[in-house]
Amino acid sequence: MNVSVIGAGKMGLPLACHLASRGASVIACDVNRGVVDQINQGRCPIDEPGVPELLAVVVREGRLRATVDTTAAVKQSDVVIVIVPALLTDDRQVDLSILESVTRQISPGIHKGLLVSYETTLPVGTTRRRLMPLLEESGSKAGEDFYLAFSPERVKSQIALSRLKDTPKVVGGVNAESAKRAEAFYATYLGAPILNVGILEAAELVKLAGMIYRDVNIALVNELARYAQDTGIDMKQVIEATNTDGEAYLLRPGIGVGGHCTPIYPYFIIHDAQQRGTPITLAERARQINDDQVAYAINHLEASWHPLGQRRVLILGLGFRPQVKEHICSPAFLIQKKLLQSRAIVSLHDPLYSDNELRAHGFSPGSWTEDPVPEVLIANTAHHKYRDLDFAKLATHGVQAVLDGCNCWAPDSVRKHGIFYMGIGRA
Ligand SMILES: NC(=O)c1ccc[n+]([C@@H]2O[C@H](COP(=O)([O-])OP(=O)(O)OC[C@H]3O[C@@H](n4cnc5c(N)ncnc54)[C@H](O)[C@@H]3O)[C@@H](O)[C@H]2O)c1
Repeated sequence: MNVSVIGAGKMGLPLACHLASRGASVIACDVNRGVVDQINQGRCPIDEPGVPELLAVVVREGRLRATVDTTAAVKQSDVVIVIVPALLTDDRQVDLSILESVTRQISPGIHKGLLVSYETTLPVGTTRRRLMPLLEESGSKAGEDFYLAFSPERVKSQIALSRLKDTPKVVGGVNAESAKRAEAFYATYLGAPILNVGILEAAELVKLAGMIYRDVNIALVNELARYAQDTGIDMKQVIEATNTDGEAYLLRPGIGVGGHCTPIYPYFIIHDAQQRGTPITLAERARQINDDQVAYAINHLEASWHPLGQRRVLILGLGFRPQVKEHICSPAFLIQKKLLQSRAIVSLHDPLYSDNELRAHGFSPGSWTEDPVPEVLIANTAHHKYRDLDFAKLATHGVQAVLDGCNCWAPDSVRKHGIFYMGIGRA
């Protein structure tokens, strides 16, 4: 089959390579000419394990090429997959502009029998109400002249290739025939188990439900961690024990929730539910609790140790996931804001970013080896590099307190050197 994958980003490119490796003839479409040129030269523009090697093979064998001309690619395709992002504006409204722009480019290329599958995470009803009318401006009818499906991308970057094969692929269609065609396509070319949930909206809700589950779970465990800390109980042990009953699956508490998924997608449903008069209050509350974690943790540190005014504080980690250079919605931004309100002297270290990159993101680069040494360390990202910090040495150089926002150190390994330790939910 000829397949166009529109959006050759962190998720679209691994998918395009994977489909090509399973026998599809794939065109990756992207607005970014630099990305397109790199792909056509067999070079990988993203940092994703296994993809550079796979991309080099499928490009060399002529099974993957890239273009900026989406409409022309659609005309040559049997299947079109859309995997560009839907964003959230500063006032937390959904911004569909990229998706609508892509859809307008697909429309003139629509032809009989084409299957269009949206994988972008979307508010429920978007595919039918907002995108289908743009596709039908072509004069073709969805479900009759061409087929329309929604199939959420549920794999994670950094483990994308293995998860593409293993994660059940959820599909829904504008009608049964569309869902059936999507099911057949993904079963052959993705190779993952398929879950046909029927209508578009059910498939859209699957992804949002998964995100909300995660956010609510973390909020619950963050609240339990606050309680545990107040009562002198180690929440880490409690979670491990609780999760052995075959029913509970508590996630880990932390200083905040970052990334382009968990802190963003709940709003895709919160707003719609409010407008419908059936508010999802638990999701709203979870967002508040998780966003409040930074203030809670720093207030707690100041109350139980010392105020941070005029203290040198080093934030460890900009990324929102260990070993990953991605900082969107990272708690580091809130940590810095809160510290500046306390009039601390703030710097940040992240081994994956250059000093110039840190400055461009509004941080002052720093390190625990610099003179003068920071007095307080706040761990935001559990990068490997931070796991084996020499606290004996740090104590002699002047580090006095540690806020372990990701519970990456054993409390005693820090305290035994006379450094004040506070974790999230650690006794
Ligand atoms: N990154 C992840 O870990 C992850 C995981 C699961 C699901 N997803 C979902 O995948 C979708 C895409 O996310 P991503 O992380 O791959 O995004 P990304 O920002 O890495 O990539 C998007 C790509 O789309 C391109 N693009 C933008 N406008 C375009 C246009 N008009 N025409 C063609 N290309 C255009 C960009 O140049 C970019 O290369 C999102 O809905 C996201 O929710 C992402």
